[in-house]
Amino acid sequence: MDNQIISSSDLSNLEKRERTTLINGLSGFRSANLIASLSKTGNQNLAIFNSVMHIGADPALMGFIMRPEVVERQTLENIRYHKKFTINQVTQSIHKQAHLTSAKYDNATSEFEACNLTPSLITNFPIPFVAESPIKIALSLKEEVQIKSNNTILIIGQIEFICLENGILEQSGHINFDKIEGTAINGLDTYYVCKKIGSYKYAKPGMHIEEL
Ligand SMILES: Cc1cc2nc3c(=O)[nH]c(=O)nc-3n(C[C@H](O)[C@H](O)[C@H](O)COP(=O)(O)O)c2cc1C
Repeated sequence: MDNQIISSSDLSNLEKRERTTLINGLSGFRSANLIASLSKTGNQNLAIFNSVMHIGADPALMGFIMRPEVVERQTLENIRYHKKFTINQVTQSIHKQAHLTSAKYDNATSEFEACNLTPSLITNFPIPFVAESPIKIALSLKEEVQIKSNNTILIIGQIEFICLENGILEQSGHINFDKIEGTAINGLDTYYVCKKIGSYKYAKPGMHIEEL
């Protein structure tokens, strides 16, 4: 196999846009989610995030990385104010609208409206969900972790409830991502549909692939 070595000095010498694209996409696929929040004055806000991650199952925690606060970060301000937000899975059918939410709309503009997605309220949770999304998650703010290396912030939320489209939750507890055509993002601009290739028992030392 022929390899291409890119040293840290090669990286520094790359044209800025090329370097950013390469590094942003280097970890492979990241989940595509829309985070909804509400401003102090009650305006609905929606933005795409590719850094949503599972933090732990008990307590049920999820997190995402917020960029440094060098410009106005409406999602961050809103979450700090109401201490609640929603995470909504991006599927193939809404991925283009979802991508449009990354634009810098002013505070008074709802990205739901601007990007043609439907806000929906569930029970008495104050923050809207994306009606078109088959996986809707209501969270309350649990913790902010400052990442000193680059001034980003890990926002951790505790799951209050989950709303799943009927028929996508399997008896095993798995969500059928093939069925919903769940998407993943590489870098900041390229979307993929994910396809299941296997599901295996937890590995033990010495286990062979035939035993999975
Ligand atoms: C594909 C994609 C993924 C993104 N992921 C993140 C992310 O994980 N963290 C972040 O802070 N911004 C991310 N952004 C940028 C936000 O979507 C963008 O800054 C948005 O305008 C934030 O809106 P807000 O000011 O209403 O919070 C991403 C943008 C795109 C296009």
